Amino acid sequence: MFITFEGIEGSGKTTQMIPIIEFMQGKGYECVLTREPGGTRIGEKIRAILLDPESTDMDPMTELLLYMADRAQHLKKFICPSISAGKTVLCDRYYDATMVYQGFARGLGIEVIHKLHQLIFEDFKPDLTILLDLPPEIGLMRALKQIENGARMGQEARFEKETLAFHEKVRVGYLELARLEPARFRVIDASMDAIRVQENIIKALSLFLNRSPVSGWKLKVQR
Ligand code: TMP
Repeated sequence: MFITFEGIEGSGKTTQMIPIIEFMQGKGYECVLTREPGGTRIGEKIRAILLDPESTDMDPMTELLLYMADRAQHLKKFICPSISAGKTVLCDRYYDATMVYQGFARGLGIEVIHKLHQLIFEDFKPDLTILLDLPPEIGLMRALKQIENGARMGQEARFEKETLAFHEKVRVGYLELARLEPARFRVIDASMDAIRVQENIIKALSLFLNRSPVSGWKLKVQR
């Protein structure tokens, strides 16, 4: 099974993933936690380039292709082998982030991203996507605080330096994707306190896990 977590800067997804993995393991799922960019050794090097605040003159297409390169390595070397081994992969960001950050907010167009995803990754999508939604004013304030108090590395702050309008576009883009694929997305209000958010994620996950066995993914990973 493949579950992704998405949201704007400061939505709290990285923090929420630790209790969530404990919940899933308690239910008997063998889980692995990973992230994009950076889920592999090579991916960590790509991440450093992508998130470096000094990468100020990066062309949007260069940025897109670096995220795609990170994903190619991640899928081949980590995600697909883990799923084939019967593990549940919990991933901090994936394809939807590319759709909204590069396709929507950078203006490259979501059709281009979708076509590339079909071409390179055979449209390999998560079984479930948890979208942590909140206004960018709150998210950015939280994210900047995390940088100030050292909880997040300043050398990864390239996107935090984008304008509020950029983050607003990202939020709108995510909500639009969730509207287009309601069966895959669960939108959680992330402006509440962390415990309430956690409870709501667990509720959504429980409903999803009790609903039916996940279909399709075994076929999709026979690559
Ligand atoms: P994070 O790991 O702290 O969420 O930071 C990753 C940053 O990279 C975040 O600002 C979103 C951005 N991103 C993209 O722009 N496109 C992508 O495809 C992915 C996976 C992340």
